[in-house]
Amino acid sequence: MGDMAVGANSGSPWSGRTVLITGAAGLLGGWIARDLLGSGASVLGLDNAWDGPRATIPPQGVERIDGDIRNTPLLRDLLSGRHVDTVIHLAAQTLVGPAIEDPVDTFSNNIEGSWSVLEACRSMSVRRIVVASSDKAYGDASGRPYREEMPLRPHHPYDTSKAVTDLLAQTYAYTYGLPVAITRCGNLYGGGDLNWSRIIPGTIRSVLQGDAPVIRSDGTFVRDYLYVRDAAAGVLALADAVGDRPEIAGTAFNFAAGVRLPVIDLVRRILTLMGSQFEPVVLGQPLKEIQDQRVSAARARRLLGWRPRATVESGLRETIDWYRSYLKPGA
Ligand SMILES: NC(=O)c1ccc[n+]([C@@H]2O[C@H](COP(=O)([O-])OP(=O)(O)OC[C@H]3O[C@@H](n4cnc5c(N)ncnc54)[C@H](O)[C@@H]3O)[C@@H](O)[C@H]2O)c1
Repeated sequence: MGDMAVGANSGSPWSGRTVLITGAAGLLGGWIARDLLGSGASVLGLDNAWDGPRATIPPQGVERIDGDIRNTPLLRDLLSGRHVDTVIHLAAQTLVGPAIEDPVDTFSNNIEGSWSVLEACRSMSVRRIVVASSDKAYGDASGRPYREEMPLRPHHPYDTSKAVTDLLAQTYAYTYGLPVAITRCGNLYGGGDLNWSRIIPGTIRSVLQGDAPVIRSDGTFVRDYLYVRDAAAGVLALADAVGDRPEIAGTAFNFAAGVRLPVIDLVRRILTLMGSQFEPVVLGQPLKEIQDQRVSAARARRLLGWRPRATVESGLRETIDWYRSYLKPGA
């Protein structure tokens, strides 16, 4: 991510705005920061693991702030001292397995962290706020694809933490009039993700290292994979809209590519694109996850004019190229 040029665009609505991104060292935060800098915004990136093994390389120009989202006074100081116009709240413990092993840590990070961010925004005049929920917040809601009006019925710790985050954002919009809207994205992928336990980075790295990729499940789990740069565009379209259109506050928006892909097919596509002869190793472990998750992005299309630009092919190609360059011997 750091090796990609960022050119300023003074005609953009983001030009001159100061934006605080929580979780800026993560996958989505890194790409949003890059787009914002390219649009002429100033970016403050708050994260508690800038030097951690999974932190992305931030684009040049991000002001890195080491800190925890549960530190409300720190957030208040940042919002007031730096005249922050927009808050994009992404910071979260995002891995499903660790959430099952240590639910309290995940609840504390994701739920307490979210009310801390929202509470700090309530006390300051932030003009636009986006909070990241997830398609996982729907849990096992009946019917596919998920639509925003469906009830949130999570059963597992990560999913519950995102559903509560989602409801907290709605509460702050309806009770306190905060200009906050919510994203519910499908599974994100793209260069810069160093969470090797996720299927796409894990598969690409295995192949580049000369190992067969491993699928923990039986390979039949269906997901909707969204290229991270399309997700970043969606978050920014929503953030821009919520400042000017009060009717959007408190509203959740699904973002997805609309592709129904079993994990085994995804892995095979990556192998084909990489020209690899490996057969995936399918462990068939029972996972506490929903079998089939897909969301409809019709609302984002209708109200925001958002469209995914990448196909699975083009998104995976760009992603593979990023890891080839990142993992190149000597890089
Ligand atoms: N990646 C996906 O497939 C996906 C899908 C749907 C929704 N989401 C949501 O989108 C958001 C961004 O996802 P991502 O993939 O970029 O996540 P990520 O794991 O790559 O990044 C999250 C960042 O938050 C930071 N963080 C965690 N707890 C913190 C705390 N208490 N204080 C400060 N920083 C903290 C981490 O250090 C990390 O850099 C998350 O809220 C996630 O739940 C992600």
